Amino acid sequence: MSHPIRVLTGITTSGTPHLGNYVGAIRPTVRASRRADTESFLFLADYHALIKVGEPARVQRSTLEIAASWLACGLDPERVTFYRQSDIAEIPQLTWLLTCVTGKGLLNRAHAYKAANDQNAAAGRDADDGITAGLFMYPVLMAADILMFNAHQVPVGRDQIQHIEMARDIAASFNHLYGEHLTLPEAVIEESVATLPGLDGRKMSKSYDNTIPLFAPREQLHKAIMGIVTDSRAPGQPKDAEGSALFQIYQAFASTDETEALRRAYAQGIAWGDAKQRLFERIDRELAPMRETYESLIADPGRVEDILRSGAAKAGRLAGPLMARLREAVGLRDLRAQPGIAAPRVAKAALPAFKQYRERDGQFYFKLVDAQGRALLQSAGFDTPRDAARAIAQLREQGSAALAGPEARLHAADGVSTGAIVAALGQLAGSTEPIRPIGS
Ligand code: TRP
Repeated sequence: MSHPIRVLTGITTSGTPHLGNYVGAIRPTVRASRRADTESFLFLADYHALIKVGEPARVQRSTLEIAASWLACGLDPERVTFYRQSDIAEIPQLTWLLTCVTGKGLLNRAHAYKAANDQNAAAGRDADDGITAGLFMYPVLMAADILMFNAHQVPVGRDQIQHIEMARDIAASFNHLYGEHLTLPEAVIEESVATLPGLDGRKMSKSYDNTIPLFAPREQLHKAIMGIVTDSRAPGQPKDAEGSALFQIYQAFASTDETEALRRAYAQGIAWGDAKQRLFERIDRELAPMRETYESLIADPGRVEDILRSGAAKAGRLAGPLMARLREAVGLRDLRAQPGIAAPRVAKAALPAFKQYRERDGQFYFKLVDAQGRALLQSAGFDTPRDAARAIAQLREQGSAALAGPEARLHAADGVSTGAIVAALGQLAGSTEPIRPIGS
């Protein structure tokens, strides 16, 4: 059984989704989330929103709009872990643990922080003028988002690559100090997804104020599309598809055949008004059913709230246990617990171990694995976990003597010599090394 790849991404709740977000992020992410080999985590980064937005009502409204948009576009909250960052109490806790292993110099090098410094310098102001510690700490909070769920892959835009690299660096520092607890994430840049041009032909972006809202009412969508810039060619004059924002937007929604038909219409001199009408109809055809769902969700915020809370409960079932392990690892511990002797990790890594697990047939099995995790010995199925544990106890007490006899119900893993097994059992003889569940 191979483990699914864990993919995680967050959306800052500071605006209203537009067509560029839909084509560049929502649509491909919803599609990818349906793949059987991935386990998707998607969250609303509302703590991140506080760094840029000082308007409470806007943060709230944006959270509702973004959540409703993703749901309307087909995100299945049963399948995907869909939650709001601020509902996960462990994220700020992890942020602090990570803050304590993050070099200040690393954060000094963050692009967003440096850009703010440079702007201040250019204006002759103090380097840190108007810069909050929140902006400075942004990469640590983002690392906590990712590391909290041991995500393997993080699909992001190019501007976020540095943040993922920082998350890796921070995770590596933590692991170096406290043991291998955190997975080092990788950025995934979706090359094939085109960026959508906006009304003025530049990349559609909130910062250029050239966006077309995703779920504006039909008439408003129509009006926005009529405002896309074109050149001044008259009806009947051939028009260039290349470099036409209108054409590129059409292409992002249409099939290859439809796109070719519009290319011919351009060559034959279609009037800009007619081309815009075609674009409007094509987009509206895709969005209309989703818009209806969107509007019903916006009208019923309690439903969205419930969905996010149940997503948070699901996420919390992973965040809680990991946070408990990390607290333990850093020494935030029950005072009655025996303090570990120095470097328990090294001692542990040198030992073979028993791993107990349950198969799909409902039976209980165990393996003996060496220090590198390779299987040495494989048990047959036991009816209860106690039976399996008893067989393990016997192996621990009697060592290789317990291998003989029909009641042993064990066989060597492929290509493993009896000598290797005997040696491993010898290392474990009388040890109190706990049995680790498989996958830990
Ligand atoms: N910084 C991301 C952005 O602005 C949003 C974000 C916050 C995020 N936490 C994350 C993205 C974790 C991926 C993973 O787009």
